Amino acid sequence: MTTVKNNVSLKPYNTFGIDIAATSFAEVNNVDELVKIQKNAKSKNQLLILGGGSNILFTKDFEGLVIKNNLKGISVLKETETEVWVKAASGEIWHSLVLYCVSKNYGGIENLSLIPGTVGAAPIQNIGAYGAELKDVFESLEALNLNELKIEEFDAEQCRFGYRDSVFKQEAKGQYFITNVTIRLQKFPELNTSYGAIQTILKQKGIEHPGIADISTAVCEIRNSKLPNPAVIGNAGSFFKNPEITKDQYSELKKTHPEIPGYPTENGIKVPAGWLIESCGWKGKRIGETGSHKDQALVLVNYGNATGEEIKKLAAEIQKSVKDKFDISIQTEVNII
Ligand code: FAD
Ligand code: EPU
Repeated sequence: MTTVKNNVSLKPYNTFGIDIAATSFAEVNNVDELVKIQKNAKSKNQLLILGGGSNILFTKDFEGLVIKNNLKGISVLKETETEVWVKAASGEIWHSLVLYCVSKNYGGIENLSLIPGTVGAAPIQNIGAYGAELKDVFESLEALNLNELKIEEFDAEQCRFGYRDSVFKQEAKGQYFITNVTIRLQKFPELNTSYGAIQTILKQKGIEHPGIADISTAVCEIRNSKLPNPAVIGNAGSFFKNPEITKDQYSELKKTHPEIPGYPTENGIKVPAGWLIESCGWKGKRIGETGSHKDQALVLVNYGNATGEEIKKLAAEIQKSVKDKFDISIQTEVNII
């Protein structure tokens, strides 16, 4: 039986370590528990589904019900000689799913090793890293419609995945509880070593014929060397998305900033927001209890007692200086609540 607790601090439940309170809070182990809570609610409360809290910035107390997702279970749904469909409950830790697949030599998500958070949050922003995105292996998901309390299935097209984006960050925002995700993996995987640093690590280790376990280990090493550990210093990974600009704007910027990095995409040029922020002088700068991280300018941090409002204010100042200097608008990746 789930108990609904009142006035609960969410500090242990968000990786920024922001100390705000939720009016009510419950942990659910299955869908029925959530349905029961919703049916018994006297008034339709504001509802927030929480996974690992690794992509959220709380700026004030949450006046409503927070549901912490504890749905567990990983199983093989079906397989052929070459492919396998793995279904995972949404409360599973994403990296546990990666380790499970790597141990079975099911290829496709090894480049997404060590991304914090839960399986259920992975489709929300179509998690991505080191040349791979969830959408590359995504088959389908099931989600509880929170208004009608009915399960619906979504295929990849219905999820409308984009760069750090999906329908669940747009029209369907806050309307569904994703209960499980099915991914389609390869039994004879082609390795994705497009990201330079992966190749460098494999070379350093003298690995000539890598397997997916080697890729996973290399990705973990890169991440541990680059990104601050939230257990040590509060953060939510990249605070902003990398902006995409037109080829013309990029050519113009090259004239005044010849060293500006850029990566061609279908529609233009993607510019690393970390570079833009660093160029505006923010990298490693501390303002009170918050700042931009010394090794990765794109990561905003909480040195201990920052409020969400302070971090939001810093983010706005950074956005303004990037706009003033480069005429580029950088958008937040983190969900600000
Ligand atoms: P939460 O923060 O708990 O929730 C995020 C959003 O999803 C919220 O709006 C929440 O309401 C919603 N949500 C969560 N679960 C469900 C569900 N079951 N149903 C419906 N809605 C739900 N992201 C990347 O893409 N690539 C990276 O490389 C990466 N690196 C990171 C590194 C660090 C150090 C950190 C702290 C974060 C990083 N992130 C990265 C961001 C984060 O790990 C991902 O966004 C992750 O998917 C968030 O999972 P979560 O369970 O913590 O989600
Ligand atoms: N850079 C700087 N200064 C910095 C940081 C970065 O100049 O302080 C420049 C460098 O030119 C560097 C480039 O930015 O070569 C790219 O940096 P990095 O490889 O660290 O990746 P990123 O673009 O900053 C993105 C994702 C990460 C993901 C990595 C690896 C976004 C918003 N972020 O970061 O995802 O792990 O690539 O693929 O797309 C997240 O979403 O939370 C996240 C951490």
